[in-house]
Amino acid sequence: MDKLSQLKQRGSFVNVLILGSGGREHALVKALLQSPDVIQIHVIPGNDGIQMHALCHQINLQNPEELQTFVKQKQINLVVVGPEQPLCDGISDILKINNIPVFGPNKAAAQLEGSKIFAKNFMNKHKIPTAKSVTVKSVQNIEESMDQFQAPYVLKADGLAAGKGVAICNTKEELLVQADNYFNKNIFGEAGTTALLEQHLEGYELSCLVLTNGQRFQILPFIQDHKRLLDEDLGPNTGGMGTAGPVNIHSSLKDDIAQKIVIPTLEGIQNQSDFEYNGVLFIGLMVTEQGPKVIEYNVRFGDPELQCILPLLNGDWAEVFKSIASGDCPTLKWKPLYSACVVLAAEGYPENPVKGVPIEGDITHETPSSYFLYAGIKKDQDNKFYTNGGRVINSVGIGDSLQQAIENAYKQAQYIQWKNYQFRKDIGKKLLSPSKG
Ligand code: AMP
Ligand code: GLY
Repeated sequence: MDKLSQLKQRGSFVNVLILGSGGREHALVKALLQSPDVIQIHVIPGNDGIQMHALCHQINLQNPEELQTFVKQKQINLVVVGPEQPLCDGISDILKINNIPVFGPNKAAAQLEGSKIFAKNFMNKHKIPTAKSVTVKSVQNIEESMDQFQAPYVLKADGLAAGKGVAICNTKEELLVQADNYFNKNIFGEAGTTALLEQHLEGYELSCLVLTNGQRFQILPFIQDHKRLLDEDLGPNTGGMGTAGPVNIHSSLKDDIAQKIVIPTLEGIQNQSDFEYNGVLFIGLMVTEQGPKVIEYNVRFGDPELQCILPLLNGDWAEVFKSIASGDCPTLKWKPLYSACVVLAAEGYPENPVKGVPIEGDITHETPSSYFLYAGIKKDQDNKFYTNGGRVINSVGIGDSLQQAIENAYKQAQYIQWKNYQFRKDIGKKLLSPSKG
């Protein structure tokens, strides 16, 4: 009997569909390729780089019939959803009706990311530490409530705004300019017609990702993202310029995070009768002098947090995703390793990334402890690769120590370049200083 027939007889074969097109999704492909049970990996839409390792398809996710036909044709028996938009649009609900195991929460639960106001009400109801805030809908609302807050002021669009909906304003004048942008100029459309005015939290950020079946949970290794474009946390906010981890945090902080944040959040999720949560909850934390506080919930893996987490598992990710998607929550074991991911971004990122710039060097270079993940690249007829997005390529390094992992990621990065590309030179640097340990 051939491998496929054997696996089918065991019932363990996996034809997996991954939704998304970035470095996070390429990382998922890479991890799932290592599973002996995975037969085929399909990605919608993927990109020309991911296409070298998986089967990419252009399917309109807005059209449920098209998706259902695809899933049946390809005998998909596991869907892993990368980005938030399809989850907020209810893709899990559609797939579950068709009995397809899906890793990712239903539409009701995805509101934890889809509406900042929903999430804030949820946190307040369950007494989960977070920044004080008020809901605002007009410049006048802001004028009336801004005296309750101290500078800097944080203004957050309620809805999904492609990661750009947060403005941090140093003065009242700046806040009023932003209020005009949100409410009168409608820069975020519908997503920004209602917003939160929020107290700025001081501290350091930590990404806490929790796998859950809605009942039990597993906290994944803590990772540090680097949100600002430039070294020393300067410049504009981005989707994330690099990650490193695991962050070895003190056991008392770990306890605080579990007791004050993760457990009450999971209890809150259980109490919502309309939530079906089989997936990952990404809790963006600010560790302040008063303890950890929630900045935001995301209902999907972080990008590039996941790129650092995947290589650390001592086990089979396909089994983990299948298990969560079918309602279980496995106990995970981790390798004693560290990882780092450096994002190589296009000129003009995050505002106006320059596309179509030829990438020089060897994008297929890899070693046992470093490799590239393709995020925003495109191939022309001559098989030459070009930039095609803001975050273009991730350079990942693995090591026995954090220092080694970071070195490996930066060594790997030297194998490619393009005109005016940008990347941070200090990914993981703060974690190497004992004060953050
Ligand atoms: P969010 O989309 O909510 O993750 O916000 C994007 C980024 O804005 C966060 O990763 C933080 O760096 C920053 N941010 C958001 N809310 C706050 C806050 N209340 N205090 C300080 N920084 C914040
Ligand atoms: N790296 C942060 C995020 O995925 O939202």
